[in-house]
Amino acid sequence: MEISKEIEAGQAIYSKPVLSIYDLWVLGISNKYIWKCPTSHLLKHFNQHITSNHLDVGVGTGYFLDHCQFPTGKTRIGLLDLNQNSLDQAAKRIERYQPTQYQYNVLDKLDRSYWIIWITYCQKAARYSARRYCRKILKKAASQCA
Ligand SMILES: C[S@@+](CC[C@H](N)C(=O)[O-])C[C@H]1O[C@@H](n2cnc3c(N)ncnc32)[C@H](O)[C@@H]1O
Repeated sequence: MEISKEIEAGQAIYSKPVLSIYDLWVLGISNKYIWKCPTSHLLKHFNQHITSNHLDVGVGTGYFLDHCQFPTGKTRIGLLDLNQNSLDQAAKRIERYQPTQYQYNVLDKLDRSYWIIWITYCQKAARYSARRYCRKILKKAASQCA
């Protein structure tokens, strides 16, 4: 499998020290204050779509798999990531489900799908942010009318 410099760089950031602050920084601060799309909102969305036969692509720390509510019954989880640190951390976190690890470059086979998922995620974040912004403006307008 040949991996370009860009792809290598895209996953290389997820070292053990970075992953140790990932939940606090990315899921706690950046999702809420930079993306304006809190992790609680993403988890709600995750819960609406999760099935008991799930392949997680780009697993990070495995936060969502650890916190989501799987339908009852047997749960089968695959973890796919290029970075072994991410795979190890996510697998340890959800070891109760005995996940299977796949170390692959998702862009090798699924490049279009990966970008569609990423774009969808960004659009959702933007829509959520836009809705909150509109609500704020409406509230302000209402208070000025009162
Ligand atoms: C931003 S984290 C996503 C974490 C998780 N989905 C979440 O929302 O908490 C991106 C993950 O994608 C992985 N990744 C980046 N490029 C990849 C590639 N080309 N193939 C497979 N995994 C990749 C990284 O190693 C990292 O674990």
